Amino acid sequence: MPVINQIHKHRSIRKYKPDPVPEELLNEILEAGIRTSSSGNMQTYSIIVTRDRHLREKLLDPHLQQTMVVEAPVLITFCADFHRMRRWLKINNAPDNFDNYFSFMVAAIDAILVSQTVALAAESNGLGICFLGSTLANADQIGSILNLPDNVIPVAGFTLGYPAENPELRDRLPASGLIHNEKYQSYSDEDIRKIYKEREVKGWQRYMQSKRLKELAEENNVENLAQLYTIVKYTKSSHQEHSRNLLDYLFHQNFMNNHL
Ligand SMILES: Cc1cc2nc3c(=O)[nH]c(=O)nc-3n(C[C@H](O)[C@H](O)[C@H](O)COP(=O)(O)O)c2cc1C
Repeated sequence: MPVINQIHKHRSIRKYKPDPVPEELLNEILEAGIRTSSSGNMQTYSIIVTRDRHLREKLLDPHLQQTMVVEAPVLITFCADFHRMRRWLKINNAPDNFDNYFSFMVAAIDAILVSQTVALAAESNGLGICFLGSTLANADQIGSILNLPDNVIPVAGFTLGYPAENPELRDRLPASGLIHNEKYQSYSDEDIRKIYKEREVKGWQRYMQSKRLKELAEENNVENLAQLYTIVKYTKSSHQEHSRNLLDYLFHQNFMNNHL
């Protein structure tokens, strides 16, 4: 199938068959990921493939009890990684300029781009994936379970396996609301309402199918999707906590030493 058709068929898979992913196929999709562009071709990322069920059970808590982490046969964690490069610099007596926040961002971009290539390669082979935002939110806990050394931070991850569900495609905001020609075009309130019109209905319908979200919406007198996002789903306190943890972890992992 042409790549573009594959891309248009994407949907996240949250239920998996227990069948293992053949080793050869797994290697093939990971090798495809490694073809991704990378800053200076430094390839400042690591890909951690976790098949061991016991280890995935340990990762369940930091992944917020999302059971697909153990139900799918494979969990892949993509890490921003300057550890390897810095070791190489050291043994070659080269100056090291990479223990800073900018380097973290460079490595994180590398890792995230690779993750999407691996995802597409997997989907084009009949596999399904679902990204896990918990990878970044609880990067410190996940990093500790996965034995990450300094200058390595998990930034993206997904479950991988053969789909045991066939969900509908999820809606997207209209392209006209996302793409700007030449320069950023400012939005009127009316433009914003138009862009989110369909989302307000479809997103609300989807979330109200979840018993937990429905109860939380009722308890908090939530009236619309926008409120659901920031009163229930992505709260100020959770985001402040994740931000603090991530900044602390960046310090801990030696990515903020030259921050001034
Ligand atoms: C960075 C990132 C983090 C995500 N985290 C989660 C997650 O923790 N749990 C989950 O069920 N889906 C997660 N998703 C999947 C999104 O919910 C999904 O991509 C979005 O709703 C659009 O649906 P689709 O992928 O089926 O088109 C994540 C997606 C991305 C890109």
